[in-house]
Amino acid sequence: MEKPMNKFSVPASELNKQKEYTELVRTVLSSRFPSGKPRAFVHTYGCQGNVADGEKLQGMLYEMGFDFTSDVNSADLVLYNTCAIREHAEDRVFGNVGALKPIKKQNPDMIIALCGCMTQQQRVADKIKNSYPFVDIVFGTHVAHRLPEFIYRSLCLGKRVFETADSDGNIVEGLPVKRDGTFRAWVPIMYGCNNFCSYCIVPYVRGRERSRDFDTVVSEVRSLVASGYKEINLLGQNVNSYNKELTADRQFPALLRAINEIEGEFIIRFMTSHPKDCTRDLIEAMADCKKVAKHLHLPVQSGNNRVLSEMNRHYTREKYLSLIEYAYELMPELSITSDIIVGFPGETYDEFKDTLSLVESVKYTSLFTFIFSPRYGTKAYDMDDPVSRQEKGEWFNKLVALQEKIAGERTSSMKGRSYRVLVEDKAKHDGILSGRTQGNVIIEFEGDEGLIGSFADVRVTNPRTWIVYGELV
Ligand code: SAH
Ligand code: SF4
Ligand code: F3S
Repeated sequence: MEKPMNKFSVPASELNKQKEYTELVRTVLSSRFPSGKPRAFVHTYGCQGNVADGEKLQGMLYEMGFDFTSDVNSADLVLYNTCAIREHAEDRVFGNVGALKPIKKQNPDMIIALCGCMTQQQRVADKIKNSYPFVDIVFGTHVAHRLPEFIYRSLCLGKRVFETADSDGNIVEGLPVKRDGTFRAWVPIMYGCNNFCSYCIVPYVRGRERSRDFDTVVSEVRSLVASGYKEINLLGQNVNSYNKELTADRQFPALLRAINEIEGEFIIRFMTSHPKDCTRDLIEAMADCKKVAKHLHLPVQSGNNRVLSEMNRHYTREKYLSLIEYAYELMPELSITSDIIVGFPGETYDEFKDTLSLVESVKYTSLFTFIFSPRYGTKAYDMDDPVSRQEKGEWFNKLVALQEKIAGERTSSMKGRSYRVLVEDKAKHDGILSGRTQGNVIIEFEGDEGLIGSFADVRVTNPRTWIVYGELV
């Protein structure tokens, strides 16, 4: 058992209690399912941090005796691990939960559980309590490690469970993990967020910023690499403020350097970096560390200083561009990606044009673009928002068209060059594989399926805008 690291650590006694519940559930399930294991359908929405949580939920379910199915109709337990980042994300979950009602009618013993960022909001938990009586278990992000107890209360006591109390958050080490991938691993290094960007729900549903212990993270990565993982994704809402309260030798650039020292061929990726805390130290560490992918996801959100200030982002267009300049100076091949919000409340067309000009000058590899979605409880929710959805849609299309042009220019310059890629999957066509360059460009080429999960050198023969085609070298 890990020693308690800081005030956020969950004590061993609480985890031991959960182990007892795990055993109780296991015993009950094995008598209810004498000829096989019950099946769980687990689906995670949202960011990679949520995916990492989902893998722990799966780990706990596995220890309770569940097997997994991808067919929701035949599941004994359905668990949706939800996301609240935009309205659309929530609508999808409500739609999918609604669709479970007739399935549960057929199979009244099915347990339906909802967790994650969406259910951490009291408003959502209340709506489910009142309007979705067939949902058995609802819990928030801060108590996910108590899943065994919640299953016990539902399965053995027949009670509906609602556990969504607010909290500053915690750090739980030592939970079982059932990973989806065999060569790509998600490794959270910090949780929560203190930034309160005015549009964002995350700080309200994920609690305060808190970092995992440096040596614990390094040894987790070491054992992942030893067991064959080839891509390590270090995760946090703002990895640049990892261990902010400690000395530089425990902060994020130092963590990258320490992980880079681990023996073996593997690639290190990280997200997300907040520009306000992105330092020259970080850029230098990226440039120095051979195993760190030359890809920086640095969400700018807007290219206009007034909008950035209303968003509470704490950097200016000029500061952002100077970071980019330094990064390109040290790594001319660097691939930069970003998130952009179109139509923040009060944004004018002239201000939006500053975003276009910034995008033009940075030359991003790709962009994640979003139309502003009001999130209840955030500051921006109450701001005046005079621009119509339709007009925002037109701005959005302009941005997408601009980025398409830039992406096409970038990928055409890849022609004839070779890239070392991690082969990830079969592509849609037979005999074709797909992988990603360090810079996160998808590349497809002919090859044997046995290559999946290993590195290969691929020369680009036919670059298209979003996918480049190539051949094994
Ligand atoms: N912590 C990361 C972002 C995580 S959320 C960062 O600060 O960069 C991922 C992206 O969702 C954000 O970068 C933002 O572009 C988008 N987003 C967040 N809240 C949104 C909202 N209310 N409406 C539209 N997009 C939003
Ligand atoms: Fe949201 Fe801002 Fe925190 Fe990112 S840094 S999670 S956008 S509040
Ligand atoms: Fe969504 Fe929560 Fe991640 S709101 S984006 S799942 S932190």
